[in-house]
Amino acid sequence: MKGKRIKIELKSAQATFDFGELLGKYLVAGDIVALIGDLGAGKTQLAKGLARGLGVPEEYYITSPTYTIINEYPGTTPFYHFDLYRVEEGSDLEDIGYEEYFNGRGVAVIEWAEKMVHLLPEDRMEIHIVHLGEGIRGMEVIGFGDHFEGIVDALTHLF
Ligand SMILES: Nc1ncnc2c1ncn2[C@@H]1O[C@H](COP(=O)(O)OP(=O)(O)OP(=O)(O)O)[C@@H](O)[C@H]1O
Ligand SMILES: [Mg+2]
Repeated sequence: MKGKRIKIELKSAQATFDFGELLGKYLVAGDIVALIGDLGAGKTQLAKGLARGLGVPEEYYITSPTYTIINEYPGTTPFYHFDLYRVEEGSDLEDIGYEEYFNGRGVAVIEWAEKMVHLLPEDRMEIHIVHLGEGIRGMEVIGFGDHFEGIVDALTHLF
């Protein structure tokens, strides 16, 4: 699938949070956001902004769900935060019951999503994050499928 893409530069951790918050406002229940980037790239920082954009109340502190794999937060739209860092490549992810979250009433945001790329639905948003320098991150946001391509179009008018 081809998809639509946009590249943006986030010049601070706050800018990444703000971008996440903005993007979160475009997401609806059942959406999948796959985050791909090295250790310290800013995946969790972006997830924190996404959570805010989805209306997760401020008193919830979003941390990587390293040991639990999935954390669930209530929001205007519920937020399902996956972190697959400790999941072995090719291991049996069916066991964690991920499908229930993908077809659920919330938005699934997945750190280290490349570990389950074979299980991701075709329609999804992918965000590839790279270090560009001290405090600066580059993000390539790719929308697959009409809904996510529409979001990328909207972003194109804003950045
Ligand atoms: N422009 C930026 N965008 C995002 N984070 C930034 C930026 N500049 C600096 N940072 C810092 O980089 C760190 C990113 O950490 P974060 O936990 O979000 O990364 P991660 O990709 O989730 O890493 P891990 O793979 O360990 O889960 C934070 O300390 C954050 O403050
Ligand atoms: Mg993280």
